[in-house]
Amino acid sequence: MHICSHSNDVRQRVAMWQGEGLSVGLVPTMGYLHRGHASLIEAAARENDRVVVSIFVNPLQFGATEDLASYPRDLSRDTEVCRQGGASLIFNPSPDELYPEGFCSYVNMEGGPSLGLCGASRPGHFRGVCTVVAKLLHLVQPHRAYFGQKDAQQLAVIRRMVLDLNLPTAIVGCPIVREPDGLALSSRNSYLSAEERRAALCIYEGLLAGKSLVEAGEAGTEAVLRAVSTRIEAEPLARIDYLALVDPLDMRPVQTLNEPALCATAVYIGTTRLIDNLLLKS
Ligand code: PAJ
Repeated sequence: MHICSHSNDVRQRVAMWQGEGLSVGLVPTMGYLHRGHASLIEAAARENDRVVVSIFVNPLQFGATEDLASYPRDLSRDTEVCRQGGASLIFNPSPDELYPEGFCSYVNMEGGPSLGLCGASRPGHFRGVCTVVAKLLHLVQPHRAYFGQKDAQQLAVIRRMVLDLNLPTAIVGCPIVREPDGLALSSRNSYLSAEERRAALCIYEGLLAGKSLVEAGEAGTEAVLRAVSTRIEAEPLARIDYLALVDPLDMRPVQTLNEPALCATAVYIGTTRLIDNLLLKS
């Protein structure tokens, strides 16, 4: 497995593989890899001859008051996760490599799935995500790129961007990997104290409360949202940033539960903002 920090090295290696007729999968990440990331790498390794994992904490997708400086990093552990998952190459560029002096070309989604949810509470976030993912897709030119359903809105935004910009890569969505008690794995879980870690369970339990209600026949969105928020807000350390029932493909709010509906939420546990979602109606 190779580790490259320069775009040209990546280009050359991938061109060599593609010249040999090998298929290439890309797994974009910000590092501090956990089993959720590993599941993406493993899926890519099953479905492609070669796998590129990018590890880059993308400054462009962090707001001015967000956790860019403190975002956890551990390249040697990440290297091991990539190796075990079957990756062929890690691309670990510096910010200057992707955003050289004078950089001023951005990919900005102005509507569709980028509206609402994280698009509303983190202005500029999806501009940063789309710009870096478009750059990585251009650079690596993979046959397939892998993204987690954990970031359901990000997945919908990237699918839309790839369609809108006629990019040739197939986007593959992968299921959420959770801890045994249900907490969705996230690099940001490392910020939680023991007490916050216990409190964070309210997010998944809230989503499950909503799911039970829908399974019992409730079709009113307000009643379902109330069941979810009641469970989350019973936890004193939790504060809801957003909670919504949306169409799983375009992220638009749904009016009834007679159509497919994803319950998506962002919750502060102390000062740590966590996101999660669950399909309540398929
Ligand atoms: P990051 O948060 O590191 O996540 C990288 C990929 O791993 C994303 O596609 C995310 O959805 C997926 N992932 C994270 N936790 C997961 C879990 N518990 N189960 C399954 N998949 C999970 O998302 C980003 O980085 C960035 O925005 C990026 C796309 C790399 C652009 O900078």
